[in-house]
Amino acid sequence: MYGFNRSILKSINWNELSSELMNLDNYNGHLDYHQTVLDDVNQIIPFGKKFLVNSGTAAIEMALMSLNLKPGDEVILPSYTFASCATAILRTGASPVFAEVDQNLILDLKSVEKLKTNKTRVVMVVNYAGASFNEDAYREFCDLNSLIFLQDAAQAFGTEESYNHIGSKADFCCFSFHDTKNISCGEGGLLVVNNSDYLKICETVFEKGTNRYDYSLGKVNKYSLVSQGGSFIMSNINAAVLKHSLALFGSDKMTREKSLLIYSDCFENKTHLYAFAMQNDRPNNGHFYWLMFKEKKAADSFISFCKDIGVTSSRHYVPLHSSPFAKKNNLKFDENMGITDLASFGLVRLPCYDFNIALRVSEVLEKRYNEIEKSF
Ligand SMILES: Cc1ncc(COP(=O)(O)O)c(C=O)c1O
Repeated sequence: MYGFNRSILKSINWNELSSELMNLDNYNGHLDYHQTVLDDVNQIIPFGKKFLVNSGTAAIEMALMSLNLKPGDEVILPSYTFASCATAILRTGASPVFAEVDQNLILDLKSVEKLKTNKTRVVMVVNYAGASFNEDAYREFCDLNSLIFLQDAAQAFGTEESYNHIGSKADFCCFSFHDTKNISCGEGGLLVVNNSDYLKICETVFEKGTNRYDYSLGKVNKYSLVSQGGSFIMSNINAAVLKHSLALFGSDKMTREKSLLIYSDCFENKTHLYAFAMQNDRPNNGHFYWLMFKEKKAADSFISFCKDIGVTSSRHYVPLHSSPFAKKNNLKFDENMGITDLASFGLVRLPCYDFNIALRVSEVLEKRYNEIEKSF
């Protein structure tokens, strides 16, 4: 049975990694060693000041913490996203406000416009399934309304549009290296700060609320507490693992691109089976492929079909606006959640880490098409 995810760490050179680990000077997070890993990251994402952190969640938390949000402030984000997008907001004392997504499952600007108030401080846009979106449109909207543009690209490491890596227009862009992601170090993340106004405070938050950065540059004799902060730094052990994972970036990308082509060829002439699917017009990194079925019954049938042929497909989020926490705390949301609600029962994801999976789905679907069509 093919699982839904397979860690890229299964394929790294563990012998080389272990000797590298034995030779490390430190096992805690250390900026000199981080820089050697960031040199490799910079080949892929050549912009912004970067912080290697211990999760994608930590990257979002750091970004939000640096904004000095206070109770009453609001952050607009898609309801159809991962829980930690909301918990990172809640930790700052601000309130999440849940918006609708478009047919690419990307935050819908019309919904944001509707939800925006004079309390709104941040717009959080998520690259669902690693897909790119029109970053200029969100940049313009945020500039026009004096809002911070935070991009949650947890799933989008490696996504390029016209040969440019995504994430350069946002004030902050956050990536995850969780083991389910294309590039992994077990647990890890990356915060890219594009807006230099927030660089100093991010350095302080990263250094547990101290001015240790200035100390390391010899600007102060001792470092001490100067603001709020946290323990966000990635350990050198994880950073070394990340370096080895990054070495496989090119080959992994090719496999995922091939999977996407096979899936889109297979499903493009079967449009009556589903409502809509992942669009080719928005480049992505092949994190996974998805189909949106019109009814729960059709999604269930498709999941059983995949299971029968040895492929694990997967549903995704319970929309945050309908979560027990949101209900209990009366969190605000857009009344019109048509696509989000559909996704809660109609969305099915397919794996891309091995193109043989896409070939299997496609070949069997062609052969047993009539039978499958009837079961929908
Ligand atoms: C959209 C999104 N945001 C944030 C995260 C959190 O990343 P991490 O698990 O590295 O904390 C994830 C992880 O799945 C995610 O998919």
